[in-house]
Amino acid sequence: MKTLTIRRPDDWHLHLRDGEVLSGVIEDTSRHFARAIIMPNLVPPVVTTADAAAYRERIMAAVPSGDRFQPLMTLYLTEGTDPQDVAAGKERGLITAVKLYPAGATTNSSSGVRNIDKAMPVLERMAEIGLPLCVHGEVTTAEVDIFDREAVFIETVLDPLRKRLPELKITMEHVTTKEGVDYIKNSSANLAGTITTHHLIINRNAILVGGIRPHYYCLPVAKREHHRLALRTAATSGDPRFFLGTDSAPHVDPLKECACGCAGIYTSPNTMSCLAHVFEEENALAQLEAFTSLSGPAWYGLPPNEERMTLVRRDEPLQFPKKRETGAGAITVFDPLFPLYWEVEA
Ligand code: DOR
Ligand code: ZN
Repeated sequence: MKTLTIRRPDDWHLHLRDGEVLSGVIEDTSRHFARAIIMPNLVPPVVTTADAAAYRERIMAAVPSGDRFQPLMTLYLTEGTDPQDVAAGKERGLITAVKLYPAGATTNSSSGVRNIDKAMPVLERMAEIGLPLCVHGEVTTAEVDIFDREAVFIETVLDPLRKRLPELKITMEHVTTKEGVDYIKNSSANLAGTITTHHLIINRNAILVGGIRPHYYCLPVAKREHHRLALRTAATSGDPRFFLGTDSAPHVDPLKECACGCAGIYTSPNTMSCLAHVFEEENALAQLEAFTSLSGPAWYGLPPNEERMTLVRRDEPLQFPKKRETGAGAITVFDPLFPLYWEVEA
């Protein structure tokens, strides 16, 4: 029997939502992950430290008793964000990062940043106090093809911002392209990237071949195969600048299965099984712990978890529920389209 014991993992990019969805999905994360960076794109968004403190309370109230889970809160950057409030949130230990959504880039991003100049005072303060900026790295200009939005963001927004404020620590979230991987690899400092589980597994064919498959639609949208291969190489390389952020993004089925479906893939329940499968395929099981449990804490200046997780490779495929039932409705769980054998030991 093959087993693998690693430090308990963390998820450095997670959507938990609120209310009935939060109550329904939280255990799929808290069962396996010790900590997660919680995305602030609620309606209305988590903009102030007070909003984040209240949201944190709601999350903690939903964590099943017996699970040890620490939500790491983020603020949603707007053009009106108060640098003083951000600094106070960090000082209190409440805020781990600030999130930049270009306005209109994705789900609930209409209050995002249109003109980065307006956010410079906050970004300068963050650089001073060592608070990282998490970026959704896609431009939203209508002329730019959706498959090119990440590469154009790097060239026209990220690189100029890094030159203007080299001291700012930036996490480029959910990297989906070879350009993104190369940009991070070639950077000298203060830049890291998260990679999702699903972008290691699917390319754009999953969304479009044989019919339109809304449960494989997310943003940034999955790209061509050579990009997926670049992501796999980066994730399994042991390079500490690449680590796990699942971007698990639950939407109830009616919001996905309709004429204008929401972006987001729900991977929390089977992420660790999927990742063990991918790392085994790449002959890189020895690097799984770096990706899920070591490089993220190092980047955010936190200690790695002391607890351990054991994964066991079963002989028979695992049976995961196809849906997570919540008080708000059912949410389809990511189907990697191959059988999974690696089980997290309870
Ligand atoms: O697919 C996505 N879903 N990408 C995002 O950036 C947002 C997320 C969501 O909130 O549903
Ligand atoms: Zn996200």
